Amino acid sequence: MYDEAYWNKRYASDDYLYGTEPNSFLAEQYRFLSGPILSLSEGEGRNAVFLASHGLEVVCVDVSAVALEKAKKLAKSRGVEIATMVCDLETFEPEEAHYGSVVSISAHLPSKVRNRLYPLLERSLRPAGTIILEAHSENQLSRDRGGPRDLDMLMTVDKLRREFPNCEPVLLREIEREVSEGEGHTGMASVVQFIARKDA
Ligand SMILES: C[S@@+](CC[C@H](N)C(=O)[O-])C[C@H]1O[C@@H](n2cnc3c(N)ncnc32)[C@H](O)[C@@H]1O
Repeated sequence: MYDEAYWNKRYASDDYLYGTEPNSFLAEQYRFLSGPILSLSEGEGRNAVFLASHGLEVVCVDVSAVALEKAKKLAKSRGVEIATMVCDLETFEPEEAHYGSVVSISAHLPSKVRNRLYPLLERSLRPAGTIILEAHSENQLSRDRGGPRDLDMLMTVDKLRREFPNCEPVLLREIEREVSEGEGHTGMASVVQFIARKDA
């Protein structure tokens, strides 16, 4: 349902579906991050461009070529560089012990994909590397919009603890917050927020 064709269509307009400003959790917490950064499901580049403007090297992965073209355009307009890779996370193989941080903002994936990918993400981090993640929680399903309409793709604190066994949480919580992220995400949202560090 939420495949490449779905996302390319969602991003078809010249407008930025989730705006051009970074996710506010990422903007508050980016000091936990170090480069090179792997940004999963980066979309139209708002988060990568923010990180690059703070001097961080970012590699963006997304299944949507349309989104990543818009990301490159946004980066150019802000005078920063980002690297992009059109790739389905279902088959993505991140380089081992390479990244300082992994960023996952609204990168909702089915458990089948997470179960293969997340151990690879842990392995892709350097010692003491960090991961930052924000995702809609299962409680978001009770709202009429925002996030996938599929319980399996929504997160909980317990799922995160279980799915990243080799990273020690620095912050792990579920909260309700007002989101203002373009036409794509606006209104009250139930989210889980996670910052964790791999063993040194
Ligand atoms: C809700 S958007 C979030 C975009 C961006 N992270 C942001 O916060 O603006 C979800 C993104 O996940 C990407 N995506 C969905 N499934 C994917 C997959 N299997 N592999 C790679 N990217 C995927 C979509 O193309 C889309 O850009």
